[in-house]
Amino acid sequence: MEYQSRAAEKPTHPTPVSPATTGGTPVQVAGDRPIQAACDPGTGMYGTGDVGFFDRIAPLYDLAMPPANGDALAAGFDRATRPIDRLLDVGGGSGRAAAAVTGPDRLVVDVSRPMLRRARAVRGLSAVAGDAGRLPVTDNAVDAVLVVDAFHHLPAQTAAIDEAARVLAPGGVFVIREFDPTHPLGRLLVAAEHAIGMGSHFRSPDELAAALDASGFDAVVIDRGFGYTVAGVRGEAGDTPDSPGH
Ligand SMILES: C[S@@+](CC[C@H](N)C(=O)[O-])C[C@H]1O[C@@H](n2cnc3c(N)ncnc32)[C@H](O)[C@@H]1O
Repeated sequence: MEYQSRAAEKPTHPTPVSPATTGGTPVQVAGDRPIQAACDPGTGMYGTGDVGFFDRIAPLYDLAMPPANGDALAAGFDRATRPIDRLLDVGGGSGRAAAAVTGPDRLVVDVSRPMLRRARAVRGLSAVAGDAGRLPVTDNAVDAVLVVDAFHHLPAQTAAIDEAARVLAPGGVFVIREFDPTHPLGRLLVAAEHAIGMGSHFRSPDELAAALDASGFDAVVIDRGFGYTVAGVRGEAGDTPDSPGH
């Protein structure tokens, strides 16, 4: 499968059978977790997470957006020290980013039901309504968590990072594609989103990598620019930012 390169070099790790031959391992969805319970009150005119905006534009979203950057995502997945059989696309909307990944079993989580309907109907993806700050997935359930062009919309960003750590198995990777607010085009994007009433909050690549480190990930900036990628590997159980060897 596509995303085993580093894991394949590490024979000490158990090697789950590739989903290319088994058909994949479905992500274990947890019981009822109320949407928005972990969200702060909405700060923009579209409500929490700017979701009202995405509810409205869902039918047009994919017409306006280019395909996700699969190479950047692959470079992030390559940091994992375990094979990636199960992938969670958080704030995954219509499944644009999940669609750029082949191999793992994929589950899209989003608060916007109209966006999720597109993920199911147009892309045939598994999709479940849920909040990034309170994921509807069991502990250690996935090998990779993805957030593409959505992190700046999340109203509870630290909770979302901690939830990614909870649902990732040790050695799994958290890959975030974002926009740099210090880049000239990033400054324009920040201004444009705020001008139309969004409550988005952008972080620079180094700020985002530091936030992942603070939650126990081993994070690196994969690439920089207007769009950038940060990937953080989830340590073994019990690892904390202060533990020896971290
Ligand atoms: C710009 S879209 C990105 C969608 C997809 N990741 C992509 O790359 O096309 C941002 C998405 O974040 C979702 N979102 C906002 N707040 C959220 C939250 N608290 N939990 C889950 N999804 C959220 C929105 O509903 C929307 O679908």
